[in-house]
Amino acid sequence: MSDKDAVELGAHQTVDEAAEGSNDVVLPDHHPRRTDFDPRAAKRAERQVTFMFGLSALFTVLFVIAYVQIDTADTIPVPFFGTWSASNAALGVTFGLASFFIGAGVMQWAKKLMSDREVVSPRHALASPPEAREEAVAAFNDGVDDSGFATRRILRRSLLGAMALFPIPLIVILRDLGPLPSNDLFITGWVPGERVVLDVTGAPIRPSDIPIGGIVSAMPASLPEIQEETGNLNARAKDVVLLVRMNPDEIVSQQGGTPEAPWDYEGVMCFSKICTHVGCPIALYEQRTHHLLCPCHQSTFDLADSARVIFGPAARDLPQLPIMLDDEGYIIARETFQQPIGPSFWERA
Ligand code: FES
Repeated sequence: MSDKDAVELGAHQTVDEAAEGSNDVVLPDHHPRRTDFDPRAAKRAERQVTFMFGLSALFTVLFVIAYVQIDTADTIPVPFFGTWSASNAALGVTFGLASFFIGAGVMQWAKKLMSDREVVSPRHALASPPEAREEAVAAFNDGVDDSGFATRRILRRSLLGAMALFPIPLIVILRDLGPLPSNDLFITGWVPGERVVLDVTGAPIRPSDIPIGGIVSAMPASLPEIQEETGNLNARAKDVVLLVRMNPDEIVSQQGGTPEAPWDYEGVMCFSKICTHVGCPIALYEQRTHHLLCPCHQSTFDLADSARVIFGPAARDLPQLPIMLDDEGYIIARETFQQPIGPSFWERA
């Protein structure tokens, strides 16, 4: 190994010395890079790195501008993905590029300009000395003898038998996680023509009963009979809905319907009340923004825009129930829910 390649270790040790003390470490020959001997190449690399750091600073400034300037309600169309929040997209791209160029600049600096000489760090063997190992084995054997584990066969076997069976209760209590929901969340009490009635009182609802900006909890009129038939509260847990009324001009989009037959009735829309994250009932409504907030983990849905998720861990929009009026002017379901309500589950397509 040449003097040029000898590397200082700490204050005093060279590779050669280190090799002596660490079983003759053999290092590959050092091949100088162009930037090691060509000052112009080094200068060029320095400019590249400076340029990347400059780009990073630029994207950081653009991040702040995007945060201040872009309205959180603005959206942009993205091929194959529908629409994205313009603010989220701009913040993500600018912050991502700011991080990328810092990383790329540092890598380029390390690769082309920092020293690439190899360093050997000698260390003692990791294994304990033979005396220490013998001592440990002797201590273990003493323990075994003292416990009687080797001599008391009946105790040993009964302990092993008990330990083999011990995990069984853990497996059995997994049963308490309950059966998989199968088709249960596809099926609700909402069938075409089912009247939407006030939760608790069961009173039928006319659109005029809900003021603009108002929201009420509702259920299917036949819920009491369904509960009586099934003998459990599953239907109540699945079928509760929210009726919300807003100015029809404020509705940006709905999950279905046509201009002639929209899913709302003159600004009254009906959504499942069960959060699509893990199924909490939702009722925190902000009238001005039409945002509905789940109190459990803060998932937020924009009811004016197909109840899409705008924040939080929920992965799906709140399902919308198409509604219309019956002959007496009361609100009824026009169709069933078009997607399962509540959280995602194994069998969901
Ligand atoms: S259950 Fe609604 S956010 Fe978690």
